[in-house]
Amino acid sequence: MSIVEKKKAKFEKVTEGYKVLSHPQTDRLYHIQLSKNAIEKFLEKVNQTNQSVQHLEYTPYARLIVASYLLDEVGEEFGELLRNIVHDRESGGFTLGLEGVSENTDEFVIFSTAIAYLLGTSNHDSMSGKYYARFSVKDTDGSDSYLRQAYRLFTLHTDGTFVDEPTDWLLMMKMVEQNARGGESRLLHLDDWKELNAFANHPLANNKFTYKAPKSKNVGQEIDRQTFFNHNNKPGICFIDQFVYPETIEEAKYLRDLSESMEQDESLIELELPVGDLVVLNNIFWLHGRAAFEKDPNLNRELLRQRGRFNQ
Ligand SMILES: [Fe+2]
Repeated sequence: MSIVEKKKAKFEKVTEGYKVLSHPQTDRLYHIQLSKNAIEKFLEKVNQTNQSVQHLEYTPYARLIVASYLLDEVGEEFGELLRNIVHDRESGGFTLGLEGVSENTDEFVIFSTAIAYLLGTSNHDSMSGKYYARFSVKDTDGSDSYLRQAYRLFTLHTDGTFVDEPTDWLLMMKMVEQNARGGESRLLHLDDWKELNAFANHPLANNKFTYKAPKSKNVGQEIDRQTFFNHNNKPGICFIDQFVYPETIEEAKYLRDLSESMEQDESLIELELPVGDLVVLNNIFWLHGRAAFEKDPNLNRELLRQRGRFNQ
């Protein structure tokens, strides 16, 4: 048994309300299976108490109330379990879903909110003006970043690079998927990246690069960020190729080589995520991106995202 498997075993468990399993695609992630009964009861309570999406948007405390409804069904320790997994350097992520109990996308938003608020607090998403954002990828796109461009690889990056608040974790939920082939989430755990040390110990690793958002993100400020920083005595990373502004050819080559090295790494995972499932990742030591879709005039895929911090 490898060291990674031994450490992972600490979170694997079975209770009446859920099972924590190793993810079928990678030992780095867990897959948590909630019982259908628990999900049904959770949604019943949400509906009985009129917790609409709009109510959650307008009333921040309601997001914690729906989180408490989920704990009522699966047990108080569930929140701590999720936080422990996302903090755990050996893993740092999990998938979980609605197990086919609902196909209502409003209920998807509410469910994802319950999970997010068990982890901490969601940041304001300037793109949507809400605490979450839903965005579609279709055959055509007129936007100014690769987020919604279907037929391009969206390279590996971390989120929150151009905002000055912490982005400890990231949640992505599959809302809709029609006529989609390709487009998987591409994920890389920092410690699996073969050339990590070469880039993390490079003279430019601690250089402060300027990050600026494109117009669609509605973030006017600029911010200086180090690519690598200390996180619990291990490297953390902050990087996205589209929004970083190097000033010299040497800096540009460092960033280009770093991006290419990660893209080519053999440990990169292309995650399969069914509709109604979500993935949560630690944003300090996981990078994410998206594979290109195959051309289809009727392509329609929608994701929800929430980015946030742990509560202290
Ligand atoms: Fe992202």
